Amino acid sequence: MQTPVPDYLKHVLSQCQRNTDGQLADYIPELAAVDPDKFALALSTVDGTIYSTGDDEVEFTMQSMSKPFAYALALQKVGLTKVMEKVGVEPSGEAFNQISLEKDSNIPKNPMINSGAITTHSLIPYKRTVSRAEQLRRFLSGLAGRELSFDSEVYTSELKTAFRNRSLGYMLRTVGVLEEDPEAIVNGYIKQCSIKVTVKDLAMIAGVLANGGIQPQTGKKLLDRSVVRQVLSVMLTCGMYDAAGDWLTTVGIPAKSGVAGGIIGVLPGQVGIAVFSPRIDEHGHSVRGVDIFERMSREMGLHLMEGTPSAQTILQSCYWAGKNDDVRVYELRGVLQFTESEMLLRNLQEEPPGDTTIVLDLTNLTLIHDVGARMLFEGVERLQQDGHRVVVVDSEGLLSQTQIQKHAAVLVQEELERYLQQYE
Ligand code: DON
Repeated sequence: MQTPVPDYLKHVLSQCQRNTDGQLADYIPELAAVDPDKFALALSTVDGTIYSTGDDEVEFTMQSMSKPFAYALALQKVGLTKVMEKVGVEPSGEAFNQISLEKDSNIPKNPMINSGAITTHSLIPYKRTVSRAEQLRRFLSGLAGRELSFDSEVYTSELKTAFRNRSLGYMLRTVGVLEEDPEAIVNGYIKQCSIKVTVKDLAMIAGVLANGGIQPQTGKKLLDRSVVRQVLSVMLTCGMYDAAGDWLTTVGIPAKSGVAGGIIGVLPGQVGIAVFSPRIDEHGHSVRGVDIFERMSREMGLHLMEGTPSAQTILQSCYWAGKNDDVRVYELRGVLQFTESEMLLRNLQEEPPGDTTIVLDLTNLTLIHDVGARMLFEGVERLQQDGHRVVVVDSEGLLSQTQIQKHAAVLVQEELERYLQQYE
């Protein structure tokens, strides 16, 4: 049997192919010269599988799709408080290159519009030997799982016509948001926009965000969970500029577009999606790209607000084990967040006080959030107060990924079956 997912992606591509609306981004001369018919789509899963179709080997520049990652790098390096002093998080409802600042605070409204992105670029810590754009290229290469490069033609081409970005740079320097030479910062920002990717790279990059900051193929933690949450929140509210409300209601996936024709979307915990088609609309979004996202969200039920009834699945099974059937085993599965923990604790509440051994098996959990770990141990303590002996089987070491202080006394790292042998 072959999975139908690649066939579905091909089908979506062919359905959207006839749409030739939109124009190439001709304010960057080099982008006006690309083949407007190139078309590609890729999807990644949080376990590291990439499906792709169409012109999936063609490289194009990230442009504004680099903005959320510069924001991520700045957050990771200098922290939220410092970043928030310089860039807000409010949707602007304005074009991406609008010359404006937030009232009163005089800082850019968000990091997705150009003024905010130029500022964000300046927040990547200065290093004498490695430019900020190069730091971002290396960071994005880590996310993509391969070495990315700059497109020097697109870079020099944009430099020649970057009057608007320069004026943004000087405005930001005037109000003290930029503290260095605006020319150098704007050039660095334009360089970051010229990092080249394919849709497969973008899907992989999106997959890291969908997977809470862990590179799905290498298992390496590249971003803090709190940084991922901040970046995705801003992508959701500001990533599609003055079409953000329309996008949120029709597509419902945190996303970012670029004027070279790419759109990257991240459905937390589920999938990353990337499209490429160079004709863009008046907001700067790929026309076919929007079409594809709308279709896939509708057909595949990917809208964020659809929610997932995950709490239904937390208890995989509950049974008696041991020679005398005196060991109570709770096998959990799925993701342990607040709703699932609430359900688990409600089930454990049914245990009458006594000296039963209670085993909570985490083997089939895919993730434990801090709140899940906290509530789990709260339940453990209450069961102990009721007289029970409680054991938490964590053979995969999931709890070590949480910030919660470990309760070593109840933790068992071996597999459930082996652990239960002592009771046979
Ligand atoms: O700064 C610019 O104008 C371009 N380098 C990037 C703009 C962009 O991609 C807008 N988004 N769709």
